[in-house]
Amino acid sequence: MLARPAGQRREAIEEGDLVIVYESHDRMKAVTVQSGQELNNRYGVFRHADWIGKPFGCKVTGKSGGFVHLLAPSPELWTCVLSHRTQILYIADISFIISYLELRPGCIVAESGTGSGSLTTSLARSVAPSGHVFTFDFHGQRADSARQDFIKNGLDGIVTVEVRDIQGLGFPDKLNGKVDAVFLDLPQPWLAIPSAVNALRSNGALCSFSPCIEQVQRSCETLQKYKFTEIRTFEVLMRRYEVREELLKLLQSEETNNGTWEPIKELFSSPPHKKLCSGMMKDVHSVANECTGSVLDTRDKDMSSRVPGLLMAKPLLETRGHTGYLTFALSYIG
Ligand SMILES: C[S@@+](CC[C@H](N)C(=O)[O-])C[C@H]1O[C@@H](n2cnc3c(N)ncnc32)[C@H](O)[C@@H]1O
Repeated sequence: MLARPAGQRREAIEEGDLVIVYESHDRMKAVTVQSGQELNNRYGVFRHADWIGKPFGCKVTGKSGGFVHLLAPSPELWTCVLSHRTQILYIADISFIISYLELRPGCIVAESGTGSGSLTTSLARSVAPSGHVFTFDFHGQRADSARQDFIKNGLDGIVTVEVRDIQGLGFPDKLNGKVDAVFLDLPQPWLAIPSAVNALRSNGALCSFSPCIEQVQRSCETLQKYKFTEIRTFEVLMRRYEVREELLKLLQSEETNNGTWEPIKELFSSPPHKKLCSGMMKDVHSVANECTGSVLDTRDKDMSSRVPGLLMAKPLLETRGHTGYLTFALSYIG
């Protein structure tokens, strides 16, 4: 249940619950618990029946001794495990959208298109329990699959999915003047802006996600034409770090030959780590010398000295680059 307020989550796993089976940060799977069923993965065979009554977050061991963790679903985890029927929004953009649209419990949101429901799931948690998300996609099968996912996640009371061509028909009249925030992830978002004006209450907020700057330009022109204010465009980039303990071999600096000691360069020289690590070098160097103390006297020519267990932060290689631009604006109905 993704929409329960914090602190009201059930502790123990029950029959029929959705759990996120966590193997590693890049290997997770959503599983509905059904006693009688088994999960097979590279860590072994796991009986669902053994999970019932255990707390969310627990570690469970399979028949052959391998283990996985069973996590409670959250919108962030759902974005990691959902089946991609379209391009989806990720957590960097999602968190920025929720924050800049100032979403909170009780808000009414209109969204199009629904796509794979990655954003919708987070929108729903933000407005729950008293708000609502009306989400529209013109692709019937995608809308159906998203609806099934919302039911599976216990969000069906908070999200309504409809099949509708929002660029052609606009948002339905039933929403006129009722919506706190509109979100558009459409190929031609400017076509939906006139109806967004009708749907939004005065001072309501709009956000449009577009991968190309030409789409942003056309959207901004239309937003101006329809008297939106505070029009701002952002690009959100996220860099994730892996923190781990490294053994560092120390070498005398070749560049300066000034008698100081530095961790070997190869650890830092491969892109994309190079820029970051050159910035870190000073810190690593001072920690290294602190750790080694008198052993690493600058006159010591022993090149095999090592600093044990130095904690390192390295950016993950699969860091995402450009996804798109987020354009925000406020409606003003004078
Ligand atoms: C990139 S996906 C949206 C992904 C979504 N934001 C997510 O995080 O999962 C764009 C969706 O817009 C839908 N779409 C495209 N044109 C549309 C239109 N005119 N009216 C409604 N939906 C449309 C597509 O079917 C597609 O599912």
